[in-house]
Amino acid sequence: MDWKNRLRCDETAAWPLLQAHARRFRQDASSFDLRTAFAEDDQRFERFSQDAPYVFADLSKNLIDDRAQQLLLQLARECGFEAHREALLTGEPINTAEQRAAWHTLLREPYAPGQQEASPSIRAEVAAAQAAMLNFADAVRADHRITDVVNIGIGGSDLGPRMAAQTLRTAGATSGPRVHFVANGDGHEISELLPSLDAASTLFIVVSKTFGTAETLANAKAARQWFLAQGGSDVARHFVGVTCNTNAAAEFGISRVFSIWDWVGGRYSLWSAVGLSLAVAMGSAGFRALLAGAHAMDQHFANAPLEANLPLRLALLDIWQCDFLGLGSRCVAPYHHGLRRLPAYLQQLEMESNGKGVDTHGRTLTFPTAPVVWGEAGSNGQHAFFQLLHQGPGVTPVEFIAVREPAHSLQAQHRTLLANALAQARALMIGQSSDCGHRNFPGNRPSTFLLLERMDPASLGALLALYEHRVFSSGSLWGINSFDQWGVELGKTIAADLAPRLSSGDTAGLDASTAGLLIRLSGS
Ligand code: F6P
Repeated sequence: MDWKNRLRCDETAAWPLLQAHARRFRQDASSFDLRTAFAEDDQRFERFSQDAPYVFADLSKNLIDDRAQQLLLQLARECGFEAHREALLTGEPINTAEQRAAWHTLLREPYAPGQQEASPSIRAEVAAAQAAMLNFADAVRADHRITDVVNIGIGGSDLGPRMAAQTLRTAGATSGPRVHFVANGDGHEISELLPSLDAASTLFIVVSKTFGTAETLANAKAARQWFLAQGGSDVARHFVGVTCNTNAAAEFGISRVFSIWDWVGGRYSLWSAVGLSLAVAMGSAGFRALLAGAHAMDQHFANAPLEANLPLRLALLDIWQCDFLGLGSRCVAPYHHGLRRLPAYLQQLEMESNGKGVDTHGRTLTFPTAPVVWGEAGSNGQHAFFQLLHQGPGVTPVEFIAVREPAHSLQAQHRTLLANALAQARALMIGQSSDCGHRNFPGNRPSTFLLLERMDPASLGALLALYEHRVFSSGSLWGINSFDQWGVELGKTIAADLAPRLSSGDTAGLDASTAGLLIRLSGS
C-alpha cells in the first residue's frame, strides 16, 4: 500500500472487532482482571515483555490480552503502517501539510563517505554540519576563557537539550563549562540568571529554527543588552545561532550560525545543532554516543517484526487505552533524578505531535488521539499524586522508568528506590481489599515498566528515539500529521494584538472577560 493512501485506524476491519473485544475490559465483576490473567498464565510476563536496544520493557501489567494484541497488530497492518514507516525512514515528505520530510533519523545514521546510498549529497552535508558543530563544541570546552554557556530557545529548542543535559549531568557524563537554559517568555527566568554570569566568559547560543519565536527573540535581546551594559564588545564571539533562518540571525548581529534543515521538526531536533549546548556539556564523543544509541533504536524500529517492535507495541497500547478503554491520560514516573524533566519533554513530543482533531485529509476525527502526558520523578510523585493513582475513582496508566545501575555509590539507597518503583507498580495491580473503605485499594490498575541498565548517552539516545517512534506510530495509525503544530498559532496572533493594548488600554472589539482583565493588568 502507498503511504499516502493508507487507511485510518477506524476504517480497518480490526477496529469494530477491537470495539467488541474491549467490552471484556469494562470495570465490572466479569471483566478482565490482571491478577487473574497472571494466575492463569505463567508465561504472561515473558509474552508481554521484550528487549530492545538499551531498553527492556514490561507491558504485562497492562489491561491487554492476546486477542487485543493480535487485533491491534492486524490494525497496524491494515493501515499500511510498514509503508508509512519506510517513508519516514527514507525521507519522503510525510509532513504533508508543509510538504517536507521528517527525517530526524538521518541525523543519527553513521556516515561513511563514498557510501553507495540514496541521497549521498544530503548525507555528506549532514555529516559536514555535524562535524562543524561538534568541533565548535569541543573548542568551547577547551577554551578556558568560557566558563558559562547559555542556551536561549523554547519548545523543541529547549526541552530536549535541557532535559538531556540534566539527565547526563546526573549520570556524571558532563564536564566543562556550566550550561544554562533560558526559555520562558517571562523575563524572570533570564533576570535571575544574568547577574550570576560574567560577560567576558559567557557564550550565548540562540536556538530558534525559525528565528521568529517571540520569547526567544525577547530573551536574546535582553542577553545582548546585558552583555553590552557589562562592557562586552565582541557580540560576534559571544553570541552564536542555531537556525534555518540565517538572514534573521545576521540581522540580530549573529554571524556564526549553525544551520539546521527544514525537514528537522523542532521537537525532533535534539540530534541536530539544536543539541549544541548539550554537545558542549558532553563533548563530541558523548554526543556521538547519544546519536549511536538513537540509531540502534532506529534499526530496531526499522527491522524488528511488528509483534516484537517495541515503539509500535507501545503505540498500539496507547491506541488501545485511548480509543477502546477510554483512558485518556498517562502518568510518566521516571525513577531517576536525572530524568525529572522527561515528562515536560514528552509533553511536547507527544501532545504537540499527536494532539490533533483532523486527519491528513482534513477530516474530523471521531476518536481521541494523544493522551494527556504528565508526571514527576519517583519517588517524589509517591508523596504527591500517587494517592489518586491508587484510590481515585478514575484509572490512569502509569509508565515507570528505572535505571539498574546508579551513578553514585549509595547502593542501599538505590535499591530502596528500585524497590519503590516495583512496589508502586505491584500495588497498583494487586490492590488490597478491606472492609474499611479508605483502606481499600481496587487494584487492576495498569502500568508499563521500562528498564535501562545504566544512564549514559547511548541509553538516553535509545530511550528518546523509542518515544519518537512510538509517537510516529500512533500518529500514523490515527491518520494524522504528527509533524505540524498549527494549534499553537492562534494564541501567538492574539498575543501580538494584545501586547500593545496593555500599554494603550484599548479594549475595542474584545470580549468582556479579556477586556476586564486587560484593564486590570494595564493599570489604566
Ligand atoms: O510554538 C511552537 C513551536 O513552533 C514549537 O513547535 C517549536 O519547538 C518552538 O515553537 C520553538 O520554535 P523555534 O525553534 O522556531 O524558535
